[in-house]
Amino acid sequence: MSCPVASPDTKQSDKSYNAAANKAKTYGEYLQLDKLLSSQGMKSKAHDEHMFIIIHQVYELWFKQIIFEIDSVRGVFEESFVDEREMFVVTSRLKRVVQILKLLVDQIGVIETMSPMDFVEFRNMLGSASGFQSYQFRVLENKLGLPQANRQKYSQKDYKTVLESETDNMSTVVKSETETSLSELLQRWLERTPGIEKDGFNFWSKFSDKVNEMLQKQYNSNQDDLDQSAKDNLKIQYQKQRETFDSIFNEDKHKELRSKGDRRFTHKAFQGAMMIFFYRDEPRFNLPYQMLQLLMDIDALVMKWRYTHVLMVHRMLGSKPGTGGSSGVDYLKSTVTDRYKVFLDLFNLSTFLIPRSELPVLDLQMMKQLSKPSSSAEIAE
Ligand code: HEM
Repeated sequence: MSCPVASPDTKQSDKSYNAAANKAKTYGEYLQLDKLLSSQGMKSKAHDEHMFIIIHQVYELWFKQIIFEIDSVRGVFEESFVDEREMFVVTSRLKRVVQILKLLVDQIGVIETMSPMDFVEFRNMLGSASGFQSYQFRVLENKLGLPQANRQKYSQKDYKTVLESETDNMSTVVKSETETSLSELLQRWLERTPGIEKDGFNFWSKFSDKVNEMLQKQYNSNQDDLDQSAKDNLKIQYQKQRETFDSIFNEDKHKELRSKGDRRFTHKAFQGAMMIFFYRDEPRFNLPYQMLQLLMDIDALVMKWRYTHVLMVHRMLGSKPGTGGSSGVDYLKSTVTDRYKVFLDLFNLSTFLIPRSELPVLDLQMMKQLSKPSSSAEIAE
């Protein structure tokens, strides 16, 4: 988990610095409103087309901001040591992403003020233009860490075939596929969670012992006063629970689930996340725990957006194919599944939570280690 520093602020501001904006004297010049407000070229006389253009542009601006924030968070985790003082900035920025995504879900309501009849007035002017070609949306999916194998093919084709080839946008998408995603960076960091070291506190082995003890205790204590069929049922339940826990304690089973895409995190990263979930009250884990919650919020909100978008599209198009060339609603529905959840394992962690009273007790050294975030200054000492 621990240390050194590279301020994401410095990296981002270098990238976005604009000498022209620096010379601006007025509100309009600073925001380059002349460009922004003259970019709504309507292709028809239909009143609602204006809103249709504006809303897509607003989405694209927010996508840009989200990518900006996600890149800054990736910047923090790209360092081989993460200064834990950076966790405040990380959680603040992820909170911002969450707020923006909430807006993006709500904004679907604005499109819904357009009736399907009003949409038909100008839909044929769109040609093959579709949100499908939103390269920023693809970059966002890739930077978060959506596995390429999990993407739904449309007409057996790769999602990139609808993007204009040979353009900067295409190269940005291709680059985002090869960059280390937030999910991968997070896993590297989780693998360094204090407490999971085999030659240290060895949380995983202690946790496994505790679970075995707990299940055996539950099984034994429930035996009294049961007839044979109830006992058989209890045994089946006990075995099922053992199998469930075996899927995390047996590394080969974990690997098998990973190869099928049912689990995403490395075995060690999974242990780190579990440790943070259990001991979130320890000061050093407060912010990491919040961060994991925010990552789940992001996944849930992207999923909520997909669902709200598909409901709106169904109302607007019925079963017509999309302008981007997909089957339309059926294609969109197929993306509202766990395959599109990036931080799936964080959701599934709850399967393995046990009562606090059953948890391995932290020893003194561990409590001391988790009592405050470590910083680069301490490492340098
Ligand atoms: C009347 C409004 C809208 C309709 C009827 C509509 C329809 C569709 C359809 C049918 C698709 C499937 C691809 C295809 O075109 O074949 C699609 C995909 C998409 N649309 Fe929309 N859309 C609307 C508004 C929006 C807005 C405002 C956004 C905001 C950026 C948006 C973003 C997207 C994205 C990102 C995809 C790709 C989703 C994926 O592949 O997972 N759409 N849309």
